[in-house]
Amino acid sequence: MSTRDELLSAAREALANAHAPYSGLRVGAALLGKSGRTYTGCNIENASYGLTICAERVALFRAVAEGETAFQALAVANDSPQAVYPCGACRQVLSEFADNLEIIICGSEGEPVETSLAQLLPHAFGSSDLPREG
Ligand code: THU
Repeated sequence: MSTRDELLSAAREALANAHAPYSGLRVGAALLGKSGRTYTGCNIENASYGLTICAERVALFRAVAEGETAFQALAVANDSPQAVYPCGACRQVLSEFADNLEIIICGSEGEPVETSLAQLLPHAFGSSDLPREG
């Protein structure tokens, strides 16, 4: 099995743990660190809707909390027929830790879509835009 397929199946597996009673959209993410380790996440909703967190950020925060801060690829799986792209907040948070990232997305039907963080978040705002960091 290729790395891409392994990452996609890890994302699909992670989706099973989604806590999504409000939207009904289950999402799983698998993030491949430069070390070769994979970190998974699922969306976790809350009755106070705004406290919901996306699968992609759960995977990223797990990785960073474990000391991994550089990444190669991200797979995202969801259980609606079409592929659901990472939201704007997740794109921005991912860009803090990855200049570019291969991204593979798949819904429950059809072929996976391949894209990249550079494509999804061109002209990203980042630390070099801050006067103290530039
Ligand atoms: N969601 C994700 O987990 N990732 C995305 O990229 C888009 C949206 C989740 C958040 C929420 O639980 C549900 O999908 C509906 O917005």
